[in-house]
Amino acid sequence: MNEPRLNIDGKDMLNKVLSLWPPLIQGRKRERIMRILNWIMAARGASQAGKDLVIEAVKEIVPKSYDPIFHMWEDPEKFNREFLATFDNLEAYKNIPVQVKRWERPPDEKPAKSPGEMTVVAFCASPRKGGNTDTLVDEALKGALSTGAQGEKIMLQKIKMGFCIGCRRCKETDYEQMCVIKDDMNDVYQKITDADAIIIGFPIYTGRECAQLSTFLDRWDCFERGSIVDNSFRLTHAIKPGKRAMIIGTWGYSAIDTYDHVIENVISIVNMHVIQPVEALSACGFEGILHGFDENKKAVIATLPEELNKAYQAGIGLVAE
Ligand SMILES: Cc1cc2nc3c(=O)[nH]c(=O)nc-3n(C[C@H](O)[C@H](O)[C@H](O)COP(=O)(O)O)c2cc1C
Repeated sequence: MNEPRLNIDGKDMLNKVLSLWPPLIQGRKRERIMRILNWIMAARGASQAGKDLVIEAVKEIVPKSYDPIFHMWEDPEKFNREFLATFDNLEAYKNIPVQVKRWERPPDEKPAKSPGEMTVVAFCASPRKGGNTDTLVDEALKGALSTGAQGEKIMLQKIKMGFCIGCRRCKETDYEQMCVIKDDMNDVYQKITDADAIIIGFPIYTGRECAQLSTFLDRWDCFERGSIVDNSFRLTHAIKPGKRAMIIGTWGYSAIDTYDHVIENVISIVNMHVIQPVEALSACGFEGILHGFDENKKAVIATLPEELNKAYQAGIGLVAE
């Protein structure tokens, strides 16, 4: 690969970006940035790259969760005022733009059943009962139930749910149970296979889904089993097609797309288990001095009816649209 030519600003920016990573991965990151930079420069007919082109190339190889770092570099004062200050100043905290985004949905087939014949199971992966995720899950479920569907909510924190132990018994064709672990997941498997639609809400912890959701989805692996049919390997699914899902992700940083890639990942896992995700919500702005609560210890989202209504409408969409 030809090394793209960088001017002084471009070189400084590249070094600054590379310093984000430990030496063990710096070389791999540099190679990818340079490859993208070559393409961008060829497309623009640029003979030298400055800091803007370097940043453009970097943004192509990192997820949106790096945005807070770029925001800090671009305008440190604004970053301090709108983000850092919210951790020690109540006024700045009250100004955090809390938002919910209902994802645009493609035209899909109408559900096979009418809402009155449907059962919805909602899972809240946040450990904070009455928190922002829990409130949004409740609101989405309320929307779904308003159509006549039946349903319930399960707090993952409250059930007995062990980690997958990787024994692979569930992959054996003659194994008749779902999982060797004797815990509440056995009831949950049944509820998922019986449901017509599910809702999964989770907070972002350390840039990815919280551990409760991660553990939950690992335990779903037993829904999928391989078998030999007509001399070829086939995957069989314990979940019958025709079910729908809504995924809700919440986080602290106040940009509405920062962790959409994590939601996309959860959507893909659910889809892998032949449940069709038809609704998704992102919700942001839940951190700072009171960690997403107001002075009455109520989730801030509960004080914003317009934002909450997006969850309610998506709940209706899950079963009726
Ligand atoms: C252990 C932990 C790690 C977190 N990591 C992040 C993070 O990487 N990025 C972010 O924007 N928010 C992060 N947050 C903030 C939570 O995502 C946010 O407070 C959450 O949406 C609140 O949901 P809840 O009210 O349902 O608990 C973290 C919170 C905790 C407790």
